[in-house]
Amino acid sequence: MKKVLFIVGIIFLSIVGCKPSLYIPKNEPDGKENVIPIEELKQGRSLYVHRCSGCHNLHLPNEYTAAEWKVNLDDMQHKAKINDDQKALILQFLLH
Ligand code: HEC
Repeated sequence: MKKVLFIVGIIFLSIVGCKPSLYIPKNEPDGKENVIPIEELKQGRSLYVHRCSGCHNLHLPNEYTAAEWKVNLDDMQHKAKINDDQKALILQFLLH
């Protein structure tokens, strides 16, 4: 009985201990065409991870509304030294 509780405890801790992580863009499971090309989403993710994690932890997409993300990205654009195209790719990834 003690052993079972121990195992249940370990499973519980491993679930609670996991931080939510940034999603990785995938193709639609049924092979449908993505509305947004997968390559663009991957580029957006890569830019976000590489350009936006230098000064603070990455914020997850669901922490802000679409409108708030636009403002945040405008604020951060000069800090991250990204151009308008790169900013648009990051926004597209975050709001997907
Ligand atoms: C050069 C450092 C630097 C880089 C690079 C940077 N940030 Fe920030 N970021 C900050 C600082 C400092 C703050 C907190 C103060 C502020 O809001 O200006 C912040 C705050 C934020 C916030 C919270 C704003 C709020 O209202 O709470 C978000 C979201 C954010 N950054 C997103 C991004 C994104 C997206 C990128 C990449 C495009 C990025 N950051 C790149 C320095 C940086």
